[in-house]
Amino acid sequence: MSEGAPKKDEKPRKFQAIRGTRDLLPPETALWNRVERTAHEVFGTFGFGEIRPPIFEPTELFARAVGGETDIVSKEMYTFSNPTSLAAMVPEGRTEGTLAEMLPEAEMISLRPEATASVCRAYIEHNMQQLPQPVKLYYMGPMFRRERPQKGRYRQFYQIGAEVLGGSDAPAIDAEVIEMVMTFFDRLELQGVQLDINSIGHSADNCRRGYVEKLKAALENVKDKLGPDSQRRIETNPLRVLDSKLESEQGSIATLPHIADHLCEACATHYSAVKHQLEMRGVIYRENWRLVRGLDYYMRTTFEITAQGLGSQNAVCGGGRYDGLVELLGGPPTKGIGFAIGEDRLILSLQESGKAPAQQGRDVYIAWMGERAHATAIRAAKDLRKAGFSVELPPVEQKFGKALGQADKLGAKYALILGDNEVSEGLWTLKTLADGSQEKYTEADLLDRLRKGKALSS
Ligand code: HAM
Repeated sequence: MSEGAPKKDEKPRKFQAIRGTRDLLPPETALWNRVERTAHEVFGTFGFGEIRPPIFEPTELFARAVGGETDIVSKEMYTFSNPTSLAAMVPEGRTEGTLAEMLPEAEMISLRPEATASVCRAYIEHNMQQLPQPVKLYYMGPMFRRERPQKGRYRQFYQIGAEVLGGSDAPAIDAEVIEMVMTFFDRLELQGVQLDINSIGHSADNCRRGYVEKLKAALENVKDKLGPDSQRRIETNPLRVLDSKLESEQGSIATLPHIADHLCEACATHYSAVKHQLEMRGVIYRENWRLVRGLDYYMRTTFEITAQGLGSQNAVCGGGRYDGLVELLGGPPTKGIGFAIGEDRLILSLQESGKAPAQQGRDVYIAWMGERAHATAIRAAKDLRKAGFSVELPPVEQKFGKALGQADKLGAKYALILGDNEVSEGLWTLKTLADGSQEKYTEADLLDRLRKGKALSS
């Protein structure tokens, strides 16, 4: 008996997906596929190629890139010892204790909470600085964060993201990356799209440091009016206080200094050029001085996009510039900018605004009766599928009445009726289920008729 098999007296257990994870099912998955196809198409037109990094990486990679003090790294990662090193590393004879106790020097790995760190790691690992610059990459797939689940917030969620690495930090690159997301959303007819932008200055220069000092001083003045989280952040990460959604803190936050007034000349020039470049591309934006983002690697441009129908978790995309991250991870000095779209939220918003297909219907349901008809039905199904039609072929014979009821339930457009008469006459009956009309066709004409029907309905 294998280890996981139930013992004789054990009751069968009904399992459920783990909290914060879920099954994506048809017909919703058809919408996921459409969204992903559109991303491949649109990103391809901007010259981006797809990268598929692994789902897990050394914990240290995320700690360095995203920042050890961030919520993502300090509280939300799924981290464990790398099991491949298990046998080699457990001291002989040692059988008790937690993995961490038994394997003090085992490499810790984490399920990826985001993919920018992985893309930078891959850029360095594959010497992509030797390719023509900049290197433009996009990805899609699951990410993992142990957050409190709610509508639009999951522990396994999906991102579609893109990164531009290398080359210059020309403001036109920032603007084109933003233009690409907006084009993608536009193509999907996403409703209520709002783009917010900001510049958070340069970490190495005086401008960010100078601003953070002024912000700290201003925060100390209103400390009593802030909640415990924000009070703690005055010391650990004062910029994050600006992110607070707490109603009681909004009045105090409104009095704080704006970073735009404290940018150094180079950052200010960059920021105004990004805005100009966005205008040249017809991208409508709103400046939001409180947009600081929750990951440490950002500098200069930050942006976030919200969409309608999402409640409190309405950020459908976040991104920004991160010059210096590749260097921080051991690579050459490299410019970088990118974004990630929350695909779950994007889908939710599309569904809320009625952009989701209701049912994944079949084109043709083949109702057959009799041995000879079965053979013909199998051949017809093969030919129709080859021509790109979605076909349901019942595995066992059923009365025509029952078969037509089944075709209706599956949302089929047509029923192809094949009985002994049809087979011997060589004339097949096609019933249009919407209006109940039916006509007879030769095998050759049938395909033409269905093709015309498809062209009309698409
Ligand atoms: P982020 O803001 O942490 O940025 O995530 C980007 C988007 O992922 C969010 O705007 C949201 O739509 C979605 N998202 C985040 N957490 C969850 C969750 N628990 N459930 C559902 N959706 C979620 C990043 O991840 C950066 N790597 C983006 C980036 C790429 N910056 C530069 N390049």
